[in-house]
Amino acid sequence: MQVQSKVVIIDFGSQYTQLIARRIREAGVYSEIHPCIIGLDELKALEPSALVLSGGPASVGSPDSPLVDPAFFGLDIPVLGICYGMHLIAHTFGGSVEPSMNREYGRSTLEFVNDCPLWDALQDKDNLIVWMSHGDTVLVPPPGFEILARTSSVDIAAMGNQEKKVYAVQFHPEVAHTEDGFKILHNFLFKVAGLKPDWSMSSFIESTISSMRDAIGDEHVVCGLSGGIDSTVVAVLLHKAIGKRLHCILVDNGVLRQGEGEEVVETLSEHFDLNLKYVQAQERFLSRLEGVEDPELKRKIIGHTFIEVFDEEAGSIPGVKWLAQGTLYPDVIESVSFKGPSAVIKSHHNVGGLPEQMNLKLVEPLRELFKDEVRKVAVELDIPDIFVWRHPFPGPGLAIRVIGEITADRLEILRKADRIVQNELHASDWYRKVWQGFAVLLPLKTVGVMGDERTYENVIALRIVDSVDAMTADWSRIPSEILAGISNRIINEVQGVNRVVFDISSKPPSTIEWE
Ligand code: XMP
Repeated sequence: MQVQSKVVIIDFGSQYTQLIARRIREAGVYSEIHPCIIGLDELKALEPSALVLSGGPASVGSPDSPLVDPAFFGLDIPVLGICYGMHLIAHTFGGSVEPSMNREYGRSTLEFVNDCPLWDALQDKDNLIVWMSHGDTVLVPPPGFEILARTSSVDIAAMGNQEKKVYAVQFHPEVAHTEDGFKILHNFLFKVAGLKPDWSMSSFIESTISSMRDAIGDEHVVCGLSGGIDSTVVAVLLHKAIGKRLHCILVDNGVLRQGEGEEVVETLSEHFDLNLKYVQAQERFLSRLEGVEDPELKRKIIGHTFIEVFDEEAGSIPGVKWLAQGTLYPDVIESVSFKGPSAVIKSHHNVGGLPEQMNLKLVEPLRELFKDEVRKVAVELDIPDIFVWRHPFPGPGLAIRVIGEITADRLEILRKADRIVQNELHASDWYRKVWQGFAVLLPLKTVGVMGDERTYENVIALRIVDSVDAMTADWSRIPSEILAGISNRIINEVQGVNRVVFDISSKPPSTIEWE
């Protein structure tokens, strides 16, 4: 990657570490997270332009607290310590850090004690609300450091050695609750460190294409497409790098949405001249799912059958040496805990096991990106909106939304109901406002009345949720008229359904999918 400015974030296990990285990238500066066990040589090899030390749950005075080689501070680059990062700086340079009487969690008002570039051009210098979450506090700043800010509960809420460009804040500038927190981070990047905002999606695209070209040479690559944004971006990037030596495979597993496979093939073919094989494997999947009710078994059957079909198809392409995967940066970070590489490396949801089995080299062009950055790359690559904004769709597809046994009839009912949900969300402009919205077919019948007739038919549940990363989610407060429209249409248009219910559970303790 040809970026000049690179911030290395040393992770001490804060829940906000990824947020720090995203904020820095949003400012146009490339940033990478590394676990706190990183060695000095490894750090030097990264050629960082600045360091950020994250927060973390440990107490710097305790015997097993994570520390870093003091030589990290001798690299002659600016450093910003946040929360635990601040305690570590104080500890390393000879200040004193003590446990507070009470753990402080929530909003505090910052009072500025001394001027410094971090406070440049903040909107409200008298009443800046900051977000605190800490047990320990710095009681005495180390020699050479001056106090820069305090709050009513903490005498040293920020400190700095301005000559050495080492700064530390007790609060969290990366969270939205800290007013002007992004401005403080910007000030660190641009005023203190003098970095250039040279991380852009177009520079990413250019350098990724050229490095993939170099790595792959004249070999061939196989790539599974799902219709989702990640695999589409992977395919388009690779297509630009190696053209027809990229072989895309889209498997219809019989549990896709109505017309989905065809729609993906048509739209992609209209826009890109991809080498794309659409494999109709519905029969193989559906026959194996017959009579299966257990959700885990459904998932396993679909996963194994996918690998089998994909393996056969890829094996029939001569000269394939590489498998492309849509691994994203959060997957990469999550597989390495802040204490170092964990034993379990997370494999991609839908193609786990493939690389080992097929003896292929992996190409993962999105490894450095967050999801919102993938969307920006997609826009830059002129990938049509239907891919860019498509809701996530699980690998096991509608199989885990037909609760209980999957039959052709039940799939058909769900497809029709689901199509109405999708149409209505689009028509009301709510599709892009929610994380995911879909229909679920329940394994029970209820009594209804239609005209003069008593009916005894199926129930559809609507699941429409808001989320940032699918780790937590809440049901969308979608206007009742839209829900009424969806319900009316499903009951009137989908034969076999006489009742629609709306799922009002959050995750946790529920999950987004029902199975
Ligand atoms: P849950 O149900 O765990 O879902 O709250 C979280 C997110 O992941 C999606 N999901 C999957 N995606 N393969 C996938 O590619 C899967 O097996 C799978 N299971 C759940 C789900 O749609 C939601 O966005």
